[in-house]
Amino acid sequence: MKNLTVITHPIVQHNLTRLRDARTAPEDFRRLLSEAAALMLYEATRDLKVKRIPVTTPMARTHGTAIARKVALIPVLRAGLGMMDGMLRLLPAAHVGFIGLKRDEVTLEAKAYHYSLPSPIKDFEVLVVDPMLATGGSTVTALDLLLHHGARHLRVINLLAAPEGIAKVREHHPNIHIYTAAIDRRLNAKGYILPGLGDAGDRLFGT
Ligand code: PRP
Ligand code: URA
Repeated sequence: MKNLTVITHPIVQHNLTRLRDARTAPEDFRRLLSEAAALMLYEATRDLKVKRIPVTTPMARTHGTAIARKVALIPVLRAGLGMMDGMLRLLPAAHVGFIGLKRDEVTLEAKAYHYSLPSPIKDFEVLVVDPMLATGGSTVTALDLLLHHGARHLRVINLLAAPEGIAKVREHHPNIHIYTAAIDRRLNAKGYILPGLGDAGDRLFGT
């Protein structure tokens, strides 16, 4: 599918299976998610724009490569926070913004309660980070907010995606690339991903 990459790296898949396991405790859940997130960032940034720059080694002058645009990681609160540690270990120079969203448990609509973004966001390569793409409401709301503030270079990283969520993001933002480790079967009546991993925020923070 256009603008959709499923990251099949064995370490990501190994971690994902342990994350799905209901017996995995929050301390292990945090570590596994963080490790998977780093590898997902690695895969999702393969085609980042680069520029050629001069570099002087102890021996001679030559040319090397630098990432052309600054990178902004935008975790969707709360659960996106669980992917930050690993990603920042891989890309310590990244800027970090936040979008706070909460799904209404009945309507399943995502409501924004907070945001803060690196400025000017138009100059950044922006990665929206959320472990779960369920109905797609949260990711679409986050993308709408970022576009409204001028973001131009956007991609999305979700550990798990439901077909319903992918379809919704496709409908609203067909040109934004989604990176995920798995496309699951479907949503249940309460908007949870099946088989999924449960409530990502609750499993991360032990609530
Ligand atoms: C969860 C998850 C996503 C959202 C996905 O967050 O972390 O942000 O649901 O669902 P959607 O695709 O149907 O919008 P939740 O609203 O439960 O908040 P939390 O992270 O604070 O627990
Ligand atoms: N949010 C979660 O944390 N899990 C789901 O399965 C769906 C939305």
